[in-house]
Amino acid sequence: MLLRSLGVLALATSSCALQWFPVNSKGEIPLEIEPFEKGQEVQFDCIQRNIDNGEHKFDQQNKIIYGPFPKCKETSKPFSFAYGVNQDINCTIEFSDELYHLFQLYIHEDAPFSCRLPLSSEMLSIEKGGAYIPFTFNFRGEISESHLDIDSSMNVLITKPSNDLAEQYTFISAVAFGSGTNTTRIVIGEELTLNFAIRWFDSLSVKGKTGYDLPYDDGFYKFPMSFIPMSYTVFYSYISLTSVVTALMTLLITYKWVNQKRRYMPLDNESKQD
Ligand SMILES: *[C@@H]1O[C@H](CO)[C@@H](O)[C@H](O)[C@H]1NC(C)=O
Ligand SMILES: *[C@@H]1O[C@H](CO)[C@@H](O)[C@H](O)[C@H]1NC(C)=O
Repeated sequence: MLLRSLGVLALATSSCALQWFPVNSKGEIPLEIEPFEKGQEVQFDCIQRNIDNGEHKFDQQNKIIYGPFPKCKETSKPFSFAYGVNQDINCTIEFSDELYHLFQLYIHEDAPFSCRLPLSSEMLSIEKGGAYIPFTFNFRGEISESHLDIDSSMNVLITKPSNDLAEQYTFISAVAFGSGTNTTRIVIGEELTLNFAIRWFDSLSVKGKTGYDLPYDDGFYKFPMSFIPMSYTVFYSYISLTSVVTALMTLLITYKWVNQKRRYMPLDNESKQD
């Protein structure tokens, strides 16, 4: 506890008004994170909004009300994804009257579709005061009097600490945004299949400091100027696949060559005999 307070103090005094992001509900650096496991289901919640103006809904204590993402028909559960796994997921949502009106606001950009990801995998970690990062869904399309045209193709980019330390299986940032050229026409009561392409960035270089008083390296988790949008694990497995293929090709060619030699040798003998 003392160490942690010192950490906060050191960070606050050493560099001019720099503060760690994100902090927990007490304003402290979240050091006690229960990390996720690779493949673990990540659930998250989203801000509930009034359909008239898109303003947050508040509870009696004047706190913003969060609720689940709309339910996917495929799983009968709100949209979720697996930690640290690149995957394509379909989620078919039904446009209730409320959701339809909310999507008018999202597409018109009157209000963001704001969700949040907990830094810790502990149950109800945010409710217990744990830190979280924003996770916004940028839906796009066109609004008409009678219907909505929605781009259902969503890229989801998630960055995590740049190493493969299991104790740092948490989030740095996340965003989802429409990236398709087709829209689907929707009226109240209809369904829309959202096609999510979830991609993780786990090898972004940060030139910050690291230490016992931080949950993971600090700094800018910046995309490189040119990069291969896949994890190094996948990248290395491609490299090993390439070497296996190369080895097989070499073997095949050598085998052919040896076989040809074998075939030619008796011919040579025959020709000598002739
Ligand atoms: C998702 O749905 C689309 C059609 O909307 C289909 O082409 C695609 O194969 C589906 N993908 C997965 C991963 O189920
Ligand atoms: C987009 O629409 C065209 C037809 O206009 C269709 O051929 C194509 O498959 C659609 N693409 C997706 C990703 O839905």
